[in-house]
Amino acid sequence: MKYAKITGWGKCIPPVKLTNDDLSQIMDTNDEWITTRTGIKERRISHQSTADLATIAAKNALDCAGIKNADEIDLVLLATCSPSTMVANTASEVQKNLNATGAAACDVNAACSGFLYALQNATAQIQSGMIKKAVVIGAERMTWYVNWQRRDSGVLFGDGAGAVVLEASGDKTGLLGTKTGCDSEDREILHITNSGTNTDKYKPVGPSDLLFEGREIFKRAVKGMTTAVDDVLTQVGSEITDIDVLIPHQANLRIIQAIQSKVNLPDDAVMVNIDKYGNTSAATIPIAICEAVENGLIKENSRVISAAFGAGLTWAASFIQW
Ligand code: ACO
Repeated sequence: MKYAKITGWGKCIPPVKLTNDDLSQIMDTNDEWITTRTGIKERRISHQSTADLATIAAKNALDCAGIKNADEIDLVLLATCSPSTMVANTASEVQKNLNATGAAACDVNAACSGFLYALQNATAQIQSGMIKKAVVIGAERMTWYVNWQRRDSGVLFGDGAGAVVLEASGDKTGLLGTKTGCDSEDREILHITNSGTNTDKYKPVGPSDLLFEGREIFKRAVKGMTTAVDDVLTQVGSEITDIDVLIPHQANLRIIQAIQSKVNLPDDAVMVNIDKYGNTSAATIPIAICEAVENGLIKENSRVISAAFGAGLTWAASFIQW
């Protein structure tokens, strides 16, 4: 059996910071409210496209993997819900920028769960023997959607990208267990208005607005991610005590803490960077993976659980053997 080893990782963090104090200059909010309700202190704003962010993260991941010729790559899979262009897909622009001329290129939209969905897909293609090398990216320019007159959503989101390189390997590492799902019944409780072909083609539409029922999403995110973690542990025949690191989607520090207390992991096993970047949707997990490696939280042989929840309402959890 082949495995899909993670051989490289990289990120792209846009340089421009927007702090809570900056936001309080343009909307009726303050640092105290944002920090206590969400854990966010600042977020990054990109003036470059989602494809540009994805390209930089992917290049860093390829460098980390020691891959000099991107034409060795068979697949560029880009998780995003803020594509630079709908047609052609954004992954094709990344493929072009990387010069990964032999690679298939495809976008995956499962909102905040998108990176784990994409990781599952690329891993399965490698395990089946169909391909040998893939770059899996989560990249978002979420602030493009933000209506800066809405304080409820305006404070939550940020821009950025993270990526991993997967390579076929005989070593039993990489994604060893995964559960993904979608509770579509209540998909309307988190959506973006005025986007897609449901808008009237012949009438001018207003700006896109990110609308959500915060408290309902909060409860469902905690329940969804906790259940998904339990399910994936059962799938791989492990207990939570076998887990070294939890990489949760970074939507709200209180959501992360609620999941942590339900699964009963110590503080030093949980990766948190929401204070610096806010919610970067599909990019939170690959950025967090990257920083967990950089800061020594993820080490060789670490057993990692990652979980996400997002629009759809999609959810996912993955067990990764480092
Ligand atoms: N600054 C100051 N006050 C604010 C702000 C703000 N930025 N935003 C809302 N308020 C006010 C509201 O108007 C409300 O005032 P009122 O009581 O006078 O009506 C009050 O604060 C409380 O608002 P709530 O919505 O009840 O606040 P809550 O404690 O639920 O926190 C939050 C809101 C942070 C959005 C929380 O519900 C949450 O994190 N939900 C889940 C995350 C989420 O939905 N993310 C969207 C993406 S989905 C995902 O990534 C999983």
